[in-house]
Amino acid sequence: MARLLLVLAATAVLLLAAGATAQQQGCENATFPAGRSFARCNTLPVLGASLYWTYHAANGTAELAFRAQSDATGWVAWGINPGGAGMAGSNVFVASPGGGGAVSVLTTILRTTSPALDNTTLSFAVPVPPTAEYAAGAYTIYVTVALPGNSTQQNTVWQAGPLSGGAIMAHRMSGPNLQSVKRQDFLSG
Ligand SMILES: *[C@@H]1O[C@H](CO)[C@@H](O)[C@H](O)[C@H]1NC(C)=O
Ligand SMILES: *[C@@H]1O[C@H](CO)[C@@H](O)[C@H](O)[C@H]1NC(C)=O
Ligand SMILES: *[C@@H]1O[C@H](CO)[C@@H](O)[C@H](O)[C@H]1NC(C)=O
Ligand SMILES: *[C@@H]1O[C@H](CO)[C@@H](O)[C@H](O)[C@H]1NC(C)=O
Repeated sequence: MARLLLVLAATAVLLLAAGATAQQQGCENATFPAGRSFARCNTLPVLGASLYWTYHAANGTAELAFRAQSDATGWVAWGINPGGAGMAGSNVFVASPGGGGAVSVLTTILRTTSPALDNTTLSFAVPVPPTAEYAAGAYTIYVTVALPGNSTQQNTVWQAGPLSGGAIMAHRMSGPNLQSVKRQDFLSG
């Protein structure tokens, strides 16, 4: 009996260690192009996504990178919902293939759950134009935002979905695609 408990305990320790390693690989070891680095990161719970950021208290801005796995014929998005939680009302950055191997970013406010995806000005300041890249099976969107209300706690959303003829199509309406919301703390992570 004692021996069995020892084996179980050892197994639990191994599993915990494996979990910690997986989490590190999820965000701590990420690399970025020269000139880009971030003070903090979180591995997000679904859709193979991570968030990296540097928060500047003096001017209330966050420089951030959102990275999410996708095949090259898909789109990914990240955003903040200044007025509530969930999709409707979110101000989002959407990355999808542009012309000639480039990745384009559109900014839009999701006014309903069947949004128009018009490329528009967001409700908070975006002092640096967003850019994005696609490499190694993941999109990365680089964003600088003035955190709404100068608050370090924000309701965030993220998503991934397919394209059809280059056009952004609806994401799945089940499983992880309905769990991609998080109250993000930009101070502690
Ligand atoms: C990730 O980084 C940690 C800490 O630097 C290191 O111990 C670990 O081996 C790294 N993992 C990989 C897969 O590189
Ligand atoms: C905010 O402050 C940081 C740190 O001083 C600075 O690097 C950054 O350019 C500032 N951002 C804006 C939009 O003024
Ligand atoms: C944002 O809040 C910080 C303290 O949390 C303050 O130092 C800073 O002046 C504020 N910035 C703006 C733009 O309101
Ligand atoms: C959205 O507009 C910005 C500037 O107004 C532009 O740089 C960007 O390429 C546009 N995005 C798309 C997907 O059209």
